[in-house]
Amino acid sequence: MDVKIAPSILSADYARLADDVAGVRAESDLLHVDMMDNHYVPNLTIGPPVVRSLRQHTDLFLDCHLMVTDPGSLLEPLAEAGADGVTVHIELGDPRPLIARMRELGLQPALTMNPPTPFSAVEPYLELVDLLLVMSVHPGFGGQAFIPEVLPKVEAARAVADRNGLHLDIQIDGGINPETAVLAARAGANVLVAGSAIFLQPDPPGAARRIRDAAESAPASA
Ligand code: DX5
Ligand code: ZN
Repeated sequence: MDVKIAPSILSADYARLADDVAGVRAESDLLHVDMMDNHYVPNLTIGPPVVRSLRQHTDLFLDCHLMVTDPGSLLEPLAEAGADGVTVHIELGDPRPLIARMRELGLQPALTMNPPTPFSAVEPYLELVDLLLVMSVHPGFGGQAFIPEVLPKVEAARAVADRNGLHLDIQIDGGINPETAVLAARAGANVLVAGSAIFLQPDPPGAARRIRDAAESAPASA
């Protein structure tokens, strides 16, 4: 199976962002941009101004993961800044108005759920989105350990997508490295986010390549 690699700039050097992104460009399919508001999660990162700057320096799909309490207020600024896709958390409530607004703005809508949230929370909305992100750590920080208990949600999402003929990317985020990438790919994930396992390594593009190679050589699930 072909996988897409999405380096997470949370573990990049924010003061050298364009260089760090250019360094992994050849091994990247998307660029994962974590936005945290120090309210929905206890950490604070970046917003539309940095997306606007990134847009000047890369042609990569800018995949914005919103860990914020009020994602609706960011959609228009993100679209104007040059974002490509936006992921919102199901824990915030009915996502349909946000998804509709994203479509109007030309953003690719995506949904995500935290590790304790059941698959049934997102299932009714899968046909409305282009991507489902299964969080494999509690959101807020890079460098945490992968939570394998989320893998049945990946399997369930892949089964629903196959059964209904949905063109749904299934992304996984948190604790991905060459070993856990195999588990995620085997369960049905095809978009792998990795922050510390890419940007904190001595050879970031080589690290991204090893994650891709491991996942693509994973045997398909039975
Ligand atoms: C965590 C973020 C992740 C983070 C993953 O809340 O959503 O995107 O960058 O970092 P690693 O790959 O180091 O677990
Ligand atoms: Zn993320």
